[in-house]
Amino acid sequence: MAPRADEPLVLGIETSCDETGVGIVRGHTLLADAIASSVDEHARFGGVVPEVASRAHLEAMVPTIERALKEAGVSAKDLDGIAVTAGPGLAGALLVGVSAAKAYAYALGKPLYGVNHLASHICVDQLEHGALPEPTMALLVSGGHSSLLLAPDITSDVRPLGSTIDDAAGEAFDKVARVLNLGFPGGPVIDRYAREGNPDAIRFPRGLTGSRDPIYDFSFSGLKTAVARWIEAKRAAGEEVPVADVAASFQEAVVDVLTRKAVRACKDNGVDHLMIGGGVAANTRLRAMAARRCEDAGITLRVPRPKLCTDNGAMVAALGSEMVARGRAASAWDLSADSSLPVTETHVPAPEGAHGHSHSHSHAHDHDHVHELSKKNLYES
Ligand code: KG4
Ligand code: ZN
Repeated sequence: MAPRADEPLVLGIETSCDETGVGIVRGHTLLADAIASSVDEHARFGGVVPEVASRAHLEAMVPTIERALKEAGVSAKDLDGIAVTAGPGLAGALLVGVSAAKAYAYALGKPLYGVNHLASHICVDQLEHGALPEPTMALLVSGGHSSLLLAPDITSDVRPLGSTIDDAAGEAFDKVARVLNLGFPGGPVIDRYAREGNPDAIRFPRGLTGSRDPIYDFSFSGLKTAVARWIEAKRAAGEEVPVADVAASFQEAVVDVLTRKAVRACKDNGVDHLMIGGGVAANTRLRAMAARRCEDAGITLRVPRPKLCTDNGAMVAALGSEMVARGRAASAWDLSADSSLPVTETHVPAPEGAHGHSHSHSHAHDHDHVHELSKKNLYES
């Protein structure tokens, strides 16, 4: 469908991790999705190095914005707003995006929208499948997060039902891939190996699925350890490690738990559709099992194409456009990056009556909550 000229034209900037993303949308129509990734620069460290990511964002920022404008065939002066990921994410990385968004918005005289990275991951599906029914149930699974979210209003009301108590799902893929010497990031390569393996070869543990465990929370650290022990035992016995079977069996354990809990959350809350986002949503087994289990439960499944599932600027633009369409308040000029912005804060509006001035408290935290685990992992190795 062609976009209507009265739908908001918004540019979105994403720099929460290692992707410099700039997207442009009009309403639910994607016009540009420019990405510069520093993933190769992190590969030899086995995890994202925050300082390296910030420096790469700084270098990529302006060229990526220019590329997006060219791709969309629009002029910056025609924009209705500029949206940017305000958090959660790596503090230094977020800061580059927020500073750029402020500079462009101020210079162009456009409203600025600091938005939540997680809500953006949900909203991006509107670019693929049109308006999201509300409330929406979302399963967000990436290297930094694993959450089940109920969103009665994507621009103002997102409620966390559960999340991981230790490793994120993608992080588990990355760690298991490392034990198998398959490189970083681990998700895509495990996905590939798993296609040749038997998912029932080894019965790995399903975390937090006991009758007294929290229903919507996840745990992947025990699984990761179980896989590492199993591989160690094989190696100690001088036997060859069946990489494809380990990959398939590990993946099956992750996907089984994710889909089971997501379907349960839909049923318990009377929501008849589920969206899955984040980098792990690219996983072929996750897509297949979710499709089957949703169909059995009478739930409509919505998964954006892989490029929209991983971090990108289009998702930020999609949420920004929705903010404009629903008349949400713009952010103040002193908007700051918040590395641990709670998922319940879908955006960071200017305080009422503040006319774009002074926040009551500083949002700058000196810890990087979301990627704490991957960093710890990095220094451990
Ligand atoms: O959303 P994303 O690009 O970045 C953040 O972490 O925020 O997600 C990256 C994560 C990595 O952990 C990567 O291993 C995982 O998504 N991933 C996958 C697949 N593709 C990417 N995990 C499983 N199967 C995949 N096909
Ligand atoms: Zn993400």
